[in-house]
Order: sequence, then C-alpha cells, then structure tokens
Amino acid sequence: SAQAQTDTKRVLLAAPRGYCAGVDRAVVTVEKALDLYGPPVYVRKQIVHNKHVVTTLEKRGAIFVDETDEVPEGATVIFSAHGVAPVVHDEAKQLSLKTIDATCPLVTKVHREAVRFADDDYDILLIGHEGHEEVVGTSGEAPEHITLVQSPEHVDEVEVRDPDKVVWLSQTTLSVDETMETVRRLREKFPQLQDPPSDDICYATQNRQLAVKQMAPETDLMIVVGSTNSSNSVRLVEVALEHGAKDGHLVDYADEIDEAWLEGVTTVGVTSGASVPEVLVRDVLDFLAQRGYEDVSAVTAAEESLLFALPNELRRDLKARD
Ligand code: F3S
Repeated sequence: SAQAQTDTKRVLLAAPRGYCAGVDRAVVTVEKALDLYGPPVYVRKQIVHNKHVVTTLEKRGAIFVDETDEVPEGATVIFSAHGVAPVVHDEAKQLSLKTIDATCPLVTKVHREAVRFADDDYDILLIGHEGHEEVVGTSGEAPEHITLVQSPEHVDEVEVRDPDKVVWLSQTTLSVDETMETVRRLREKFPQLQDPPSDDICYATQNRQLAVKQMAPETDLMIVVGSTNSSNSVRLVEVALEHGAKDGHLVDYADEIDEAWLEGVTTVGVTSGASVPEVLVRDVLDFLAQRGYEDVSAVTAAEESLLFALPNELRRDLKARD
C-alpha cells in the first residue's frame, strides 16, 4: 500500500563526505587573504572544483582567472588546491606577483615523487585524466619523463625507454578500483614496474569511495552533491553504480534533483565530494525530508581528523598583523 511505502522511505548518509583537509585549507586561505589584504584577491583557476564555493568567494571579492598573465602586475595571486607546474611560479615571479600557494600538501607530495624519479632518470607513468589541472601541474614537474595513462584501455599504447626503470604515480582523486586495474595491466606489460613510495590517491578520495561502496548495494538512488568538473565527485557516482546502486546522479544544488528520479525509490543514498560545503548536503536532506524521506541513518566507513596548516606565506602575514 502507499502507506507501507511511505513508512519504509529512508536515507543512508555517507560518512565521511564533503570537505577534505586540502579543500578546507584552500578555501580558508582565500577567506583569510580577503580579510587580510582586502579585495580584490586573485585566484588562479577555481580554488576548488565547486560552483557554490567559487560564487561565494567571488561575492566577497575574489577574482578567478585562468592564467597568471591575467593578474595585474604586483597583485596577490593564490594558486588553487590542485597544484601548479613550476613554470607558473616562474611566470608569477616575472610579473612580480605576490603568490600564496594553496596546493594541497598531498598533491605536493606527488610532485616531489615525480621530481625524485625524474632525477633518477625513470620513466614515470602518471595515471590520471588528461587536461585535469592536477595532472597538468604534476606533469609540468618533469615533462620529458612523464607519460599520461588515462585508463586501463590506454595501457596498450604505453611505451617506455627502459622497461626496467619504470614507476607509476597517480592523480589523487581517481577511482581506486579502476586505478588498480590500470596498474595490473601496466605490470603485465612491464613486470619491473615500481609502485609509488606511498598511496597517491589521497585518504579523502579513498574514504568517500569506501562509504559509497558500503551503501550502494542497498541504494535505489544515489545522490552525490558535487560539480561536474570535480574528479572525486564524479568518481563517487561511478563507484555507486558499479557497486549496485540502481541509479545515481551528481547535483550541484538540491533544486537540480528531478522528482522523477524518486519514483518507486525506497532508499536514497546521499554523499558529497571533497570540495562540497555541508550546507549543500543539508539542502538535499531537507528536499528529501519534504518528500517523505525523513529517516536518515549514517553509514560510517572511516573517521577523519587530518588538518593542514595554512600556507607559510599567509601565516607569516597573519602573524605580522597581530
Ligand atoms: Fe588534497 Fe585529497 Fe582533498 S589531494 S585537496 S585531500 S581530495
């Protein structure tokens, strides 16, 4: 009966979800820079890949530009969480820009690995998505040594100079399972392939996927809050569908949820990408509650407590003010 169906409607809410330590640090960096220096503060690329975050910071006086040469000489520019190639630092120096680097420390870690293996003359197979800002930045550390491998299907095309001196690295926000499949195929081809010194796919990406995997088999509809250019958010929809969610969609805002998606749906899974403020998840939960999905239970896959200190350049200026 209709009553029975109403009674069983429920929401599974993923934990962890939303902001990771790198995003939190990057967003707070722009906020504090606006407070300290006053608007405008320039930001190269979207500080994090989330529409709401970017429009909110724009209203407070942040100006987002695509390239460093769009920033007026001598102004302050913040580099986004995704990291930049060394050439971008050089450009900024030439324009006498004051730079604040909000690159996530876990992305910087991958940059350092790339530099180290390039110095040792390795061929580096970087697993990642072509054109993604993080991949552009990491590749820029050692362009002659790095070959991009986009997916398992691309392994056949990969060529190296010396198959005994090959290492793989990766973008931080990939699907864990797909990346392992790419590595498996690479290792078939290059048995001496070395692993990165530690996981490049970051803790936040891994944990958000883990929670989704736990929920997916029970989920009729998975709603992932996140923007279409957010790699880790897009992966969450894919992971949900691969692990048994009957349907799944990515939305920036609750009002993008199509009522038709809810037809015949008992269990809705809700999560959000690492660049997504919690207020947007609250809006989705309100939207669902208004349609009878009031019973919300958490599915907790991991506890997170990591926090990163703000960029040194900014901390120094904050201290000088006090
Ligand atoms: Fe850093 Fe991972 Fe977040 S690389 S910005 S902690 S998604």
